[in-house]
Amino acid sequence: MYSVIKGVGHAVPERVLTNQQLEEMVDTNDEWIVQRTGIRERRITDANTATSDLAIQAARQALENAQVAPEDLDLIIVATVTPDHAFPSTSCLLQRELEAWGAAAFDIEAACTGFIYCLSIADQFIKSGTYRTVLVLGAETLSKITDYTDRNTCILFGDGAGAAVLQAGEEPGLMAVEIGADGRGGELLVQPAGGSRNPASTETVKNRQHFIKMAGREVFKFAVRIMVESSKRVLEQAGISGQDLALLVPHQANLRIIDSACKRLAVDPEKVVVNLDRYGNMSAASIPIALSEAAQQGRIASGDHVLLVGFGGGLTWGAAVIKWK
Ligand code: ACO
Repeated sequence: MYSVIKGVGHAVPERVLTNQQLEEMVDTNDEWIVQRTGIRERRITDANTATSDLAIQAARQALENAQVAPEDLDLIIVATVTPDHAFPSTSCLLQRELEAWGAAAFDIEAACTGFIYCLSIADQFIKSGTYRTVLVLGAETLSKITDYTDRNTCILFGDGAGAAVLQAGEEPGLMAVEIGADGRGGELLVQPAGGSRNPASTETVKNRQHFIKMAGREVFKFAVRIMVESSKRVLEQAGISGQDLALLVPHQANLRIIDSACKRLAVDPEKVVVNLDRYGNMSAASIPIALSEAAQQGRIASGDHVLLVGFGGGLTWGAAVIKWK
């Protein structure tokens, strides 16, 4: 039994935040941001929009493209570091909106690698025969935990949601997937307060501890190394090489990270999906949105091999090879 992606979908908020607008907010400039990251603008939700509002749009689109009804879902998994609430889970909010009463639902947290973790988990349920149809999402509103007085981070992040419907099939499908973690790098990417270590208090708010803190240079080095290593391992598992790929969908953190990884994997730059210029880094949502856009643009044909690869807070990483149907 294999997991087959039957449909994908995505949603981003309408409001655009440009580099020029950020110039008004912190000591930065368009040229620096474009040269150092490749990002030109990102999408930002308004005060009334939460992660589940974007997730539901992406989910409905993926279900429609897959021609799967909500009542056929056995499981919903949402990867997010910006859930609507600590509980109930964002996946339970989706289950309610979709009226998918037959589906179990839970969230997972693997930062930017979340969507690949979802694929791996869904694959276990499908391969074991436990479930037949699983909806997976990466959905984030990072703008809600971004410090717009910190130029080191506020230029990077945006909001969005991407979804995929996986179903059991006789042929692949998902050919290979790996997930990994190295908790020793945990402090490189952290939201210090709001959990049980530092519950919300006047003090934590005053000290801006509810916002993302990042050691950019260290994450950068980790990202380049792990994207290449993890990609090579899943390509080998799938029995193909970088040249056999029709498409590479990397996590969208920084264009220099993507370029450097592609060079080392000998993947033609034309085969790489890049949307960070328009959206920035949307954590768990980046990969499924890039995949959904590529599918919408007709960049993937049936039988094509697609490599997804990501890294993120935790630290975590993951990669997957898909044979597109
Ligand atoms: N505008 C202008 N100058 C800036 C800005 C800015 N927005 N930000 C930093 N600088 C300055 C720094 O202060 C520094 O100045 P100094 O040399 O006087 O100290 C200089 O630019 C260079 O700073 P670096 O941090 O060395 O810049 P670098 O080239 O490493 O780029 C960046 C920084 C873009 C953050 C990069 O390191 C990066 O992309 N890292 C990876 C981040 C990432 O992938 N995060 C993903 C996970 S997110 C998640 O999991 C939720």
